[in-house]
Amino acid sequence: MTTDATRKYQELYRPQFHFSPEEKWMNDPNGMVYFNGEYHLFYQHHPFGTTWGPMHWGHAVSNDMIHWEHLPIALHPDEHGDIFSGSVVVDWNNTSGFFNDTEPGLVAIYTSAGKYPESDRPCQTQSIAYSINNGRTWMKYEGNPVLSNPDVIDFRDPKVFWHKETCKWIMVIASGQTITIYTSTNLKNWEFASEFGHQAGSHDGVWECPDLFELEVDGNPEQRKWVLFVSIGDNPRFKEGSRTQYFVGSFDGTTFVNDNKKETVLWLDYGRDNYAGVCWSDIPVEDGRRIYIGWMSNWRYANVVPTKEWRSAMTLPRELSLKTSEEGVRIVQHPVKEMDTIKKATIEYKGLTVESASPVRIPLKNQLNEIVLTFEQCDAGKFDIVIQHSETDKTVVIYDFVKKMLLVDRSDSGEVGFSESFSIVQEAPLKPVNNKVKLQMFVDTSSIEIFANDGQSVITSLIYPSDGKKELVLISSEESTTIYDLNITPLESIWT
Ligand code: FRU
Repeated sequence: MTTDATRKYQELYRPQFHFSPEEKWMNDPNGMVYFNGEYHLFYQHHPFGTTWGPMHWGHAVSNDMIHWEHLPIALHPDEHGDIFSGSVVVDWNNTSGFFNDTEPGLVAIYTSAGKYPESDRPCQTQSIAYSINNGRTWMKYEGNPVLSNPDVIDFRDPKVFWHKETCKWIMVIASGQTITIYTSTNLKNWEFASEFGHQAGSHDGVWECPDLFELEVDGNPEQRKWVLFVSIGDNPRFKEGSRTQYFVGSFDGTTFVNDNKKETVLWLDYGRDNYAGVCWSDIPVEDGRRIYIGWMSNWRYANVVPTKEWRSAMTLPRELSLKTSEEGVRIVQHPVKEMDTIKKATIEYKGLTVESASPVRIPLKNQLNEIVLTFEQCDAGKFDIVIQHSETDKTVVIYDFVKKMLLVDRSDSGEVGFSESFSIVQEAPLKPVNNKVKLQMFVDTSSIEIFANDGQSVITSLIYPSDGKKELVLISSEESTTIYDLNITPLESIWT
């Protein structure tokens, strides 16, 4: 990071504990891989503008997924096209032949977004590149593309992993309205294996950015299931814009089988601003975590959000697990434990009661906070947790005791006029557990992420508030609400 960067990271709305590009446009996270002690994050990047344009892969590294060092652009457009989303793997056994047998290296598998020869018709194919110096520089394979287009317009975002049971590389790739699966022994020759998704889940938009991985259910190593992430693009007919769904099922090295009925739709996040998320590859077995990051924006308004020098940030890195609930096996997600590295001393409040006619006001000294509170389920009314960012701007988090829903209203949160969709209230189903509701909220300069009931429901939401006097205001609408505990932890900026 240059010395200039400290000043750089002071701009209006600049996220202070979320990754954002040093400057210009960013969308999807790409090629996340852990190798030689570093977490790599590549990302869709337009280095010449703050709106989407010819895609490159930007690059950053970290040793804790929280503090980042920006590196030069990793992949530039070439004769095969712009560099769309994809993944990176460690080729431990030199299956590709790019390395020598003692020192493994990295292979990137990405979409080349080009044109058919002598034509203006878009053509998406898959290409590879490799690095022998920890991702610092990349060589494109001379045999690119390694997977040609099967005559579908949208054929992109390959996510590749090693399947040890069949000793093969598996690629999941978005193909219009389905996910196709290919296999390979060397990352260069790919064979079609199967297709998933006809009529399954949501088809509200084009399918993009898949990921497929295995997780234990309820922490039991004997009981494992496969999870398939599928992001679905913006469609003006639906108010939510772009969002990510997931499927739970089984995978045998060839075919993914959905455990749920075709019409079941499972959302990864009930907020508007978590898209195109995929997991890190090659996290060491001793660590064992499955960690993902999403793009904290929405195609509905990503190009017009009110930031100047850069556009977009990533969500916090989140650890995934599967838990059995009344509805079935579902994903739960937690911010990674490395978040502790930026936590300052917690201020604890115990045994607060919020009477219906008298709001409780708690001053917030810091701009960046983790706020965790647990309150009792009431029979009627609503409980509002108002994050007052300044005299004029507030984000209202509401728990509706009757409907058992968590809502986030950002209509008065600051700058909202850049898109009509931005002010629509976000809603997540949330049943109390043992008569209690627990919310863990991370408030950055321009986002709020809420992990409810230990990550069972999540709402990720951008906000653009002005800076000023801050407080937390708790309002109980009908009955009094008992708060068991409220912890406020100021957070440090990752850029200082
Ligand atoms: C998802 C996406 C991908 C594509 C990339 C282009 O947000 O549309 O499908 O590869 O963005 O930037």
